[in-house]
Amino acid sequence: MWGGRFASGPAEIMEEINASIGFDKRLAPQDIRGSLAHVAMLGQAGILPAGDVAAIESGLKAVAQEIEGGTFAFRRELEDIHMSVESRLTEIVGSAAGRLHTARSRNDQVATDMKLWVRDTLDGLDAQAADLQRALAEKALAHAGTVMPGFTHLQSAQPVTFGHHCLAYVEMLARDRGRFRDARTRLNECPLGAAALAGTSFPIDRHATAQALGFDRPTANSLDSVADRDFALEALAAASICAVHLSRFAEELVVWTSAQFGFVRLSDGYTTGSSIMPQKRNPDAAELVRAKAGRVIGALTGLLIVMKGLPLAYSKDMQEDKEGTFDALQALSLCLAAMTGMVRDLEPVPEVLARAAGSGYATATDLADWLVRELGLPFREAHHVTGRLVGAAAARGVGLEDLSLAELQAAEPRITDAIYAVLGVENSVASRTSYGGTAPANVRAQAEAWLSRLSAG
Ligand code: ARG
Repeated sequence: MWGGRFASGPAEIMEEINASIGFDKRLAPQDIRGSLAHVAMLGQAGILPAGDVAAIESGLKAVAQEIEGGTFAFRRELEDIHMSVESRLTEIVGSAAGRLHTARSRNDQVATDMKLWVRDTLDGLDAQAADLQRALAEKALAHAGTVMPGFTHLQSAQPVTFGHHCLAYVEMLARDRGRFRDARTRLNECPLGAAALAGTSFPIDRHATAQALGFDRPTANSLDSVADRDFALEALAAASICAVHLSRFAEELVVWTSAQFGFVRLSDGYTTGSSIMPQKRNPDAAELVRAKAGRVIGALTGLLIVMKGLPLAYSKDMQEDKEGTFDALQALSLCLAAMTGMVRDLEPVPEVLARAAGSGYATATDLADWLVRELGLPFREAHHVTGRLVGAAAARGVGLEDLSLAELQAAEPRITDAIYAVLGVENSVASRTSYGGTAPANVRAQAEAWLSRLSAG
């Protein structure tokens, strides 16, 4: 394609380091779409005669069929998908094929192809994240009143409900989806027609190609058009944050399914056994979701580092945007699917959760709040009194509710036996009715609101 100035071909190693066809062949559908839009515009603008346009169009469709049908021969010496498609097009339609690349460069072509791929992928991730939200909101509704321990520092803090915990992830996923959509909106300007870097002297209609490919408008600066990989970085950044959310939940599932916690059961479908230890049910899917977050973050970091030293406009370094972006966004898609399956099948164990919720003096804050509310103690003093009571109970190895009234009154004489009501975990969660709080009625209402929002799309 560019042999005119060269007396001999590339070294074997040059070909190996240069070729991207091994991984960019997945851009074939986007590449052909872009070429179809480009050639139609060249025809409409009177740059190419109608006969050539028709020949190129039918040739491109034939190439697309060969690729779909698996009969297309990808050859490393043709470097990348752009040259591979054009070379085959030349074989099929002859010299007219040589006119397709008028007013275009691989630089604007590859930027367009990648944007189309990332855009479709972001749409898919958004839909998958919505599925996971739905699974979580359904679980939340079913367990709006299932009491469990809430943690800070992984130490028992205050009782919450299982549904409340699920809805925390629904909120995180809502922000993730917002980032996917935001990235999509910013991405949606078409680089095609920027040519190599400076634009072109042909009277092309960039608005027409932008529109044909579903972009909102053409990019405004030809240098920026071919030098920009922000769209991939943004998609990877949004994907990384989402992957981190999934990883945190995966970590909780790993901990919760251990024999020591026993908070939840994963289904057979999402666990594996051990070849030596017959008792094992390993949470491999959750562990892999946790691990794959590393790949996604790695891809973001890798591409940031590729881009950071590049002068304008295009440099071949930018070809390295692909493998990491493809791999990371696919990995996230798989993680979302696996997480959705795990959540659908997930069974919390209410007895274990309730028992755990009551241990670790998780209702100490309720006791302190009672002293404030009923006796008018300043909160700091109530905190101090409660601390003494927790110390006394811990010394005897019992819960706060096991202290006698006399023992309670030794710390604060005005305490009455009405205080026992707030020491239970059910009362504790039921009292948390502040907006966004864990009271079962709140959780039920939030879960229902999410489910109707999600079914509205
Ligand atoms: N395969 C290349 C890439 O992915 C296409 C652009 C090549 N452009 C060039 N001037 N060598 O970046």
